[in-house]
Amino acid sequence: MDYTFDPTIPIESAPTPPSSWYTDPGVFAAEKRQVFEKAWIAVGRSDQLSTPGSYFTGNLVGNPYLVLRDEAGDLRAMHNVCRHHAAVVAQESGRACELVCPYHGWTYHLNGRLKRAPRMGKMSDFNVQ
Ligand code: FES
Repeated sequence: MDYTFDPTIPIESAPTPPSSWYTDPGVFAAEKRQVFEKAWIAVGRSDQLSTPGSYFTGNLVGNPYLVLRDEAGDLRAMHNVCRHHAAVVAQESGRACELVCPYHGWTYHLNGRLKRAPRMGKMSDFNVQ
């Protein structure tokens, strides 16, 4: 069977896509742009986060994410990256009342807002808010 890609073949009679679609960096970049960066992507179920503070983490096409249930019971999804020097803040899954970056201790509310930034108090134009 010939697996050469022919864009003129109707999808209902097309063969399996060429293997290069699974290995070509250009195809991957196009998928990121056209699929993963344009739409919401399901990464879990709400019942995985049944209690306030419960969370899970993952990585979607190179972007670490964090999904959690906040104190008010709302589901939140955000980048799992510290504002300071981009360290990954939360690991795997669990339960937390705040999020503490393991690198320098910057601490975040469960809604993602910065709560404390240790050793930044002497910076003249730095505001935790
Ligand atoms: S990178 Fe997170 S506190 Fe510095």
